[in-house]
Amino acid sequence: MKQATALAALALAAGAAAQQSAYGQCGGINWTGATSCVSGYTCVYSNDYYSQCVPGTAATTTKTTTTKTTTTSKTTTTSTKTSTTKTSTTKTTATSSTKTTTKATTTSAATTTPIGGGGGSGGCTVTAYASISSAVKSCTLITLSNISAPPSSTIDLQKLQTSATVVFAGLTTFGVTANNDFDPIVVSGNGILITGAAGHTIDGGGPNYWDGQGSNGGGAKPDHFFVVKKTTNARITNLNIKNWPVHCFSMTGNEGLTVSGLNLDNSAGDAPNSKSSGKAAAHNSDGFDISSSDYVTLSNINVHNQDDCVAVTSGTHITVTGLYCYGGHGLSIGSIGGKSNNTVDTVLFENSQVVNSENACRIKTNSGTTGTVKNVTYKGITMSGITDYGIDVQQDYLNGGPTGSPTNGVTISGVSFIDVTGTVSSSAYNYYILCGSGSCSGFTFSGTSITGGKTSCNYGSCP
Ligand SMILES: *[C@@H]1O[C@H](CO)[C@@H](O)[C@H](O)[C@H]1NC(C)=O
Ligand SMILES: *[C@@H]1O[C@H](CO)[C@@H](O)[C@H](O)[C@H]1NC(C)=O
Ligand SMILES: *[C@@H]1O[C@H](CO)[C@@H](O)[C@H](O)[C@H]1NC(C)=O
Ligand SMILES: *[C@@H]1O[C@H](CO)[C@@H](O)[C@H](O)[C@H]1NC(C)=O
Repeated sequence: MKQATALAALALAAGAAAQQSAYGQCGGINWTGATSCVSGYTCVYSNDYYSQCVPGTAATTTKTTTTKTTTTSKTTTTSTKTSTTKTSTTKTTATSSTKTTTKATTTSAATTTPIGGGGGSGGCTVTAYASISSAVKSCTLITLSNISAPPSSTIDLQKLQTSATVVFAGLTTFGVTANNDFDPIVVSGNGILITGAAGHTIDGGGPNYWDGQGSNGGGAKPDHFFVVKKTTNARITNLNIKNWPVHCFSMTGNEGLTVSGLNLDNSAGDAPNSKSSGKAAAHNSDGFDISSSDYVTLSNINVHNQDDCVAVTSGTHITVTGLYCYGGHGLSIGSIGGKSNNTVDTVLFENSQVVNSENACRIKTNSGTTGTVKNVTYKGITMSGITDYGIDVQQDYLNGGPTGSPTNGVTISGVSFIDVTGTVSSSAYNYYILCGSGSCSGFTFSGTSITGGKTSCNYGSCP
């Protein structure tokens, strides 16, 4: 009844309620913010977790999306209703991307043109790499349309205006740059939004670099694909990224960063290639590396890769929720110690799945170093097809591998595993805890059950 009233109110007073701004989120599972868009924009389904205000008008669809999204938020998992939403809104997606496309094509390169109907005066479409820097200086709503960045040319979004929006549209590609220190995309700013238009892809050109060795050797390759640094209150939403060379997101020095609705697909790197000696071609392909950042939220993200899905090496108040991690090394803290920042405080990994991966939940610290890890929670994590460790806490890392001899310079305190469940392969460990002398404290397990493998715990007792 409450819902009916709300809907009636919405229908009557369309536009009176708070409306989401251009390219903002307007729906998705558990979304509680605005579900309608400012004039000239319409709310379009992107995935079950994310609908977005994109240019175009389709009043009927906006209403439909709103209705269904509201319903969805009450349903826990995908249902027939959700698929209906998908079908009805996919059509709109096609329509609005056609509109955007038409505008982008008629725009000549090296110029910036207003887009959309309600984007205000700051809307610019950029179709040539060389025009990015002037758009960054002068526009607050920038669409990067089919950008092909030449070799050694960073898509540099470090000087964005406060609250600027950048939309990746079409296909974004990069010239081959065999340089470990070259960063293909760099973002910085205050209150900024980095997002993607329907159907866009950011392609890192991984096959040009992959040799099975990642950052451990082989040919030079851009080590950090998408650098997000020194942002305050930034949002990164709705991006489709594939084939990044080594690590994908490197996030450092950020305060209040929200990341949601991303699809990171490095599945093409699973197969060996002519340079990888039978191993997966992509290596060290972490999804998210987070350091020296506070109040970061990652939500509703798919990652298919070959290393950590998420790795927190320092920072506070980090929340990771609704991730689907496939093929990599799971949800990790570490390795901690011997770096410029060695403090991790208050990290929550929740409501996520880890599938066909080496590990699911892992905390690793470096041998002979100092640091602090405290208040870490893994809650509502399900795992399957785990080949090494279900739950793993290890204090014996050195040069990226375990030594078997833990040290106690990094303390780990207050670690909760709540409703962590699933299966590992028979050669794997359900639980593996290897703490230094006196350096672990306050580990608790509740509703946690991992089966299929072995156990070994030198602190407390394995559940
Ligand atoms: C939505 O919220 C419910 C209740 O808080 C929670 O159980 C569920 O996991 C959430 N779904 C997602 C995808 O975050
Ligand atoms: C990008 O280029 C493709 C191929 O030319 C075209 O079909 C598409 O509409 C373009 N998209 C955008 C957003 O410019
Ligand atoms: C470590 O990161 C925190 C943010 O989590 C920051 O406040 C602190 O200054 C950093 N410390 C050093 C030594 O860089
Ligand atoms: C510990 O982490 C949880 C999130 O998992 C947070 O809600 C709580 O405030 C933290 N506790 C302290 C003492 O910081």
